[in-house]
Amino acid sequence: MSEIEVPRGLTGVIVDSTAIATTDQAGNLVYRGYRTVDLARKYSFGEIAYLVVYGDLPTRSQYLEFEEKLLSMSHLEEKYVRVIQLLRESNVLSSMRTITSALHLDGTEMLDQLLQIAAKFPVIASDSYRIYMGRDRVHASDLDLSRRVYHLSTGKDDPEKAKALEKILIMYMEHEFNASTFALRVAASTGTDPASAINAALSTLKGPLHGGANSEILSYLLKFKNENEGIEFVRKRLESKQLVMGFGHRVYKTKDPRAQFIKEELRKLIGDTLRFRIADAIESYMWEQKTLPANLDFYGAFYLNEVGIDEPLYTPLFAVARVFGWVAHYMEQYSNNKLIRPLSKYVGKVDRQVL
Ligand code: COA
Repeated sequence: MSEIEVPRGLTGVIVDSTAIATTDQAGNLVYRGYRTVDLARKYSFGEIAYLVVYGDLPTRSQYLEFEEKLLSMSHLEEKYVRVIQLLRESNVLSSMRTITSALHLDGTEMLDQLLQIAAKFPVIASDSYRIYMGRDRVHASDLDLSRRVYHLSTGKDDPEKAKALEKILIMYMEHEFNASTFALRVAASTGTDPASAINAALSTLKGPLHGGANSEILSYLLKFKNENEGIEFVRKRLESKQLVMGFGHRVYKTKDPRAQFIKEELRKLIGDTLRFRIADAIESYMWEQKTLPANLDFYGAFYLNEVGIDEPLYTPLFAVARVFGWVAHYMEQYSNNKLIRPLSKYVGKVDRQVL
């Protein structure tokens, strides 16, 4: 077997094929052949989840059946709620990881097991957050998935805000071989079970260079009183060689189409307000100084805040959406499996003698 050396971080390396998502020549994110921003203008979160998982947009009856299935699978048994209460974990994603590993999944159908995890995620996130905060649990039985997610996340049944939330959930849903999905595919390639593979993905999503970025961004963005304060903060961070969260991307080097879509949605929500102008000024400054584009997490953090989501739920909501991508990738890996096991270049000591 001849060895091939690839760049660190697998930058620019195609490691396998997928029929789920890609970025096209023009830089648009595409799910199953459709531009994501076009889908988000016309279809609901649940319809697009169906598309990502099954490959085609659903008919009305397929869609209703899917929504009903997810609702019926969403129930979280009391024993898991008791674990959440016992742990009272401040980090919602950590709690989701713990509960996912404990889940006993019904049935032997692989896809059904995966969908049970996806269906329970919004409930696990909601319970984890609310129990930690000392709030009452929310029992949401809305059939519409995004409405249920909004209800569980905020405690409020607000169809209009749920519609706004679903735009960003759609953008978060899938992104080919991103770090968490790749981790899932490595796990799935060993033949491990759905919950274990999804836990590998969750654990990877938690990192600040991946899903964890969106939580860090808001903590500084909301502090600024004007554009100059924002720019000054960013200038100092760059000067001290620190990362500015919400900027840069492995795939999008000039423009993140998801960020631009959510920016426009944010403008629709809050207009050309000071907060919007601060974000815009930081985006322009980062481009001038570092030629780095704003990524989805930058405008996403603002957007989630405006929609009424509490910051500890930002990364968990990313997982609530991305899990449908993970479901599709698990199935794709499973259906045409090859163990993912690369090599490393050894740079350690050699020929040491055991005395
Ligand atoms: N702030 C400041 N500098 C950044 C930066 C950021 N957010 N992102 C990248 N850079 C710098 C790098 O330090 C590097 O500088 P150098 O050439 O002087 O060493 C240069 O830009 C190229 O970046 P690189 O590290 O090659 O990009 P990558 O493809 O390996 O990394 C990310 C992509 C997302 C990991 C990286 O941009 C990052 O850490 N961003 C912040 C975290 C974030 O927002 N994550 C969410 C992603 S959706």
